[in-house]
Amino acid sequence: MKKIVLAYSGGLDTSVAIRWLSQKGFQVIAFLADVGQGEDFGPIRRRALACGASQVVIKDLRESFAREYILPALRAGAVYERKYLLATALSRPLIAKALGEAAVAHGARTVAHGCTGKGNDQVRLEVTLKILFPRLAVLAPLREWELKSRAEEIRYAARHKLPIAPPSQSRFSIDQNLWGVSIESGPLEDPWVEPPPEAYQWTKEPSRAPARPLLVTVDWLRGVPAGINGKRLSLTRLIERLNHLGSAHGIGRSDLIEDRLVGIKSREVYEAPAAHILHAAHQELEQLTLDREMLIFKEIVAGRYARLVYDGLWFTPLKAALDRWVDESQRRVSGRVRLKLYRGTLAAVGRGSPNALYRKALATYQGKDEFDQRWAGGFIALWGLPYAKP
Ligand code: ARG
Repeated sequence: MKKIVLAYSGGLDTSVAIRWLSQKGFQVIAFLADVGQGEDFGPIRRRALACGASQVVIKDLRESFAREYILPALRAGAVYERKYLLATALSRPLIAKALGEAAVAHGARTVAHGCTGKGNDQVRLEVTLKILFPRLAVLAPLREWELKSRAEEIRYAARHKLPIAPPSQSRFSIDQNLWGVSIESGPLEDPWVEPPPEAYQWTKEPSRAPARPLLVTVDWLRGVPAGINGKRLSLTRLIERLNHLGSAHGIGRSDLIEDRLVGIKSREVYEAPAAHILHAAHQELEQLTLDREMLIFKEIVAGRYARLVYDGLWFTPLKAALDRWVDESQRRVSGRVRLKLYRGTLAAVGRGSPNALYRKALATYQGKDEFDQRWAGGFIALWGLPYAKP
């Protein structure tokens, strides 16, 4: 029998896909990437087997996800359309790479995924596979099969006695990992409707968060978060810890009408507490340690970087080149940022660095300073010269 390695999540689409592919005559190997979705893999493994997988392969990719994908995007300041911190998008090149490696290891010539034909993820996975494993064939059952809606998939699952998750949660399509949760579909498809409370998976409703603000400090070394509240932590642990603290204070929600790569506008709700806290802290420290020309250029790089990630162009020359620029830009970005978390709001309230470009002796309004105010008149005359009437 022909082997196929399917990127399996345990959700409705890919559970149905296992059965559908077996009926097409494939021996299905379910490949599960652990990118920190924090789920119990026991039931997911059993579900895959019950749906007809011949074996289940689970790979722990958390460390590599944090260090090689999340970190470069954080240092680059990558945020898509002002609100999306790219949790799903960042995981895709890594999952595609691991999926291709699994196919090679198991002697399969074909891989499959559970992305729809309307989304970004199919592009991210397949472009990455094409770059890294040009000889692998790719199947996308959701683009081919006759099941036209989630409701039809649920009926298919019932007909084939597939043990899928309860339909209450199946209303939403949820993708989660260490960097955040993406939630769409169901009631969220009406852009006028406020997300119902049960749409949110991690974060506390801000009005129910503690009435006392929480202060958190984040330490940075050359643009890498190294510890919180004075304690050194590995990147993965640090992100987990901030997700936990942020969630309790209702931090990190966003609700976005976003532009998909395939031309559709869609509504997606996100939760990314650690990502919001780290981006805010990082930007604050850059503001203290980088000169204004660097800051202006960094914004351009950040925007381009976010697009590359969103558009599935991770393993490309431009991305590699931007990484080198970002790395260079982070040499001075060390220090500490103090943030206040309070009922869904996040504010940096203090920042310090041995590389600070802020000089009190220049900025002060109190008494003796180093700034000779007599220089200002000449500067203004030259600055305004091009616009002065003759
Ligand atoms: N819109 C996001 C992206 O394109 C997330 C896609 C997956 N979302 C989901 N709810 N399953 O990166």
